[in-house]
Amino acid sequence: MTKPVLLLTRRFPDAVEARAQRDYITIPNPSDTPMDGATLATAAKDAGAQGILCAAGDPLGAATIAALPDSVKLLATFSVGTDHIDLAAARARGIAVSNTPDVLSVATAEIAFLLILAAARRGGESERMLRAGEWAGWAPTQLMGVTLEGKKLGILGMGRIGQALAKMARGFGMEIHYRNRKQLPPEEAAGAIYHADDAAFLGAIDVLSMHIPGGEATRNWLDARKIALLKRGAIVVNTGRGTTVDDVALCEALTKGHLRAAGLDVFAGEPKIHPGYLTTPNLVLLPHLGSATIETRDAMGFRCLDNLDAVLLRGAAPPHPVG
Ligand code: DGY
Repeated sequence: MTKPVLLLTRRFPDAVEARAQRDYITIPNPSDTPMDGATLATAAKDAGAQGILCAAGDPLGAATIAALPDSVKLLATFSVGTDHIDLAAARARGIAVSNTPDVLSVATAEIAFLLILAAARRGGESERMLRAGEWAGWAPTQLMGVTLEGKKLGILGMGRIGQALAKMARGFGMEIHYRNRKQLPPEEAAGAIYHADDAAFLGAIDVLSMHIPGGEATRNWLDARKIALLKRGAIVVNTGRGTTVDDVALCEALTKGHLRAAGLDVFAGEPKIHPGYLTTPNLVLLPHLGSATIETRDAMGFRCLDNLDAVLLRGAAPPHPVG
């Protein structure tokens, strides 16, 4: 049987590309140049691609999907998030979509916890001070942060990543609260306190960690009104999607001191960053590193290939369908 044609929109980990090359005629992107929608659709058309191994940030909106050739059967995204894909447009064209659940939960929770620690203990400010050659030596009141032990961690979106974070935070002696579409069964909640409304949730916690998907339904979820519901001195961390935070409101709350500190791994309009973030001192910034471990990125790629194999090699349904 002739191997199916697979378009790779980005450069993927070596082990992933090697497996893809073994089983498909691959059209790689060795320079890793991000493609705009027209370029992506043209590449798929020129190659007669049956599958597309795509990634977070690829512009797979309605116009790109409309321009894809009829040969395309599956968009396998190297991400758990699918806000870069117009799922309705894909469905309308009969193109299946798959994602990579589970395998990135621990890595993303680690980055959320890294940001919580860095924000609480002023890691970003301290590093910047040292690099600027401004450290005058140890001082009793220098760069005092807050201890996490005994603090209340509020997890917004208690899916797999949120639950992995809760497990880590318990080890630091934090009390876990959560807000979720539905209350978890006791064995999954593991003692975490459920809040049925935003106001009670936000008012109860010391640290907010956001794990909700992007898209119109969650745009600016954390706005000035909700920030005001947080206690004075609270910490905010976001490893979900940047669009869920009102950037102007967050900068203002950090500058005026309502919030103690924040940590962000995701941004609306990545790779551009709201300019206020660059000058706000009590803020730690990371370049969307949530899933960026060698183990996780390999596992994500293999999960994409499992989905592609099901559809393109066996004519079966993808094991991780979306939409
Ligand atoms: C995802 O999987 O959605 C991440 O944001 C990219 O690793």
